[in-house]
Amino acid sequence: MMNLKKAGAYSLPAKMKHTTISNPASKGALISGKWAALMGLALFLMFAACAAQAQNALKDEDVAKIEGGDQPIKFSHRIHAGVNQIPCQYCHIYARRSWVAGAPPVSVCAGCHQTVNPDLAEVKKVMKHWEEKKPIEWVRIHDTPDFVRFPHWKHVTASNEVFPNGVPCQKCHGPIETLDVVTVQEKDFGRMGWCMKCHLTLPGTMERKRAFPVAEGSPRTANDMHPKGYHRPLMTDCLTCHK
Ligand code: HEC
Ligand code: HEC
Ligand code: HEC
Ligand code: HEC
Ligand code: HEC
Repeated sequence: MMNLKKAGAYSLPAKMKHTTISNPASKGALISGKWAALMGLALFLMFAACAAQAQNALKDEDVAKIEGGDQPIKFSHRIHAGVNQIPCQYCHIYARRSWVAGAPPVSVCAGCHQTVNPDLAEVKKVMKHWEEKKPIEWVRIHDTPDFVRFPHWKHVTASNEVFPNGVPCQKCHGPIETLDVVTVQEKDFGRMGWCMKCHLTLPGTMERKRAFPVAEGSPRTANDMHPKGYHRPLMTDCLTCHK
């Protein structure tokens, strides 16, 4: 996989680099650490059997070969979301409830790593954060300017004719499960035209854009309403995305 950031095809403006991912939990806990850790144990047990059979546990030498980027810990999406098929929202627990998807709380990592590979040097770093109750300061990769309103949850929970089960993470972020180091996959990611290109394909968008009265019962009025009986949101209105 080509590393776009390194190739210089696209890099974030300097002011956005080296900020860390905000964690919605700091603004009032949405899920308790203990609960997350329990869920971790349950999921771990589900595939502990397979792991024992495969007997190919990672060693420090293997981890050393993984690209780590600028992150404080060499965390690989390929190994977690790819090889081990851990669902995105298992870790990104805030994506469907909050404006920001945020970084997973350390309790989610600890739920598995208290028992999975506790002897790896990189995993020990993770568990040190857990013991000291200190969040990991992950370097932020995707960012939009502060004057843009981007509600993650409205996308992840969307339910319409085009996206009946939410907009898949990969539709916007690309094949994250194949990457050791997360980089921005699309040159235009997060630009106004990029948002609009998708919003314009949604049913009702064009109809609501033409803000003139239409005849009773015309298809336009029909499409303006969601099958569930409410008016569709104004998908191209300036105030939808700007404060
Ligand atoms: C559902 C269980 C699970 C969760 C949750 C989990 N991991 Fe892992 N992790 C694994 C498994 C399985 C491996 C690979 C083990 C192997 O192949 O020997 C692994 C490997 C690793 C490694 C070594 C390889 C690599 O990816 O660099 C690190 C470091 C790591 N995890 C960090 C984390 C961090 C940080 C979190 C929390 C954000 C986390 N893990 C959450 C199961 C989990
Ligand atoms: C085992 C936990 C875990 C799983 C599973 C996981 N992630 Fe992540 N994700 C993390 C951690 C930790 C970070 C911060 C470090 C980094 O950027 O690699 C992160 C970062 C990201 C970022 C970049 C954040 C930024 O700074 O812009 C994106 C995008 C992302 N994940 C999407 C996904 C998608 C899509 C999936 C499913 C295919 C997924 N993640 C599965 C733990 C996980
Ligand atoms: C409709 C497009 C879209 C979808 C779908 C989407 N994201 Fe994002 N994601 C974005 C944008 C845009 C940003 C930058 C947001 C910002 O700066 O406020 C972002 C940022 C992130 C970040 C960085 C931290 C943050 O919240 O700012 C993570 C992690 C992330 N996304 C994970 C995910 C995961 C996991 C999923 C699926 C459950 C997902 N995203 C679905 C567009 C999307
Ligand atoms: C791949 C498609 C896609 C992309 C890209 C996308 N969106 Fe959306 N957006 C949606 C869908 C689907 C909904 C939910 C519409 C519905 O409820 O019918 C939505 C809803 C929204 C809403 C909530 C509207 C409301 O009032 O309920 C906002 C705000 C929004 N998007 C902003 C953005 C911004 C800002 C970007 C770019 C950074 C963006 N979107 C990129 C598909 C997308
Ligand atoms: C679907 C979401 C969306 C809608 C609707 C939208 N914008 Fe934007 N807009 C963005 C995003 C995302 C950015 C930041 C990225 C960029 O500069 O392209 C932005 C940037 C801007 C900027 C700053 C451009 C710059 O180069 O700094 C202006 C001005 C702007 N929008 C005006 C408008 C106006 C006026 C409307 C209504 C006609 C509108 N926007 C509707 C998403 C949206």
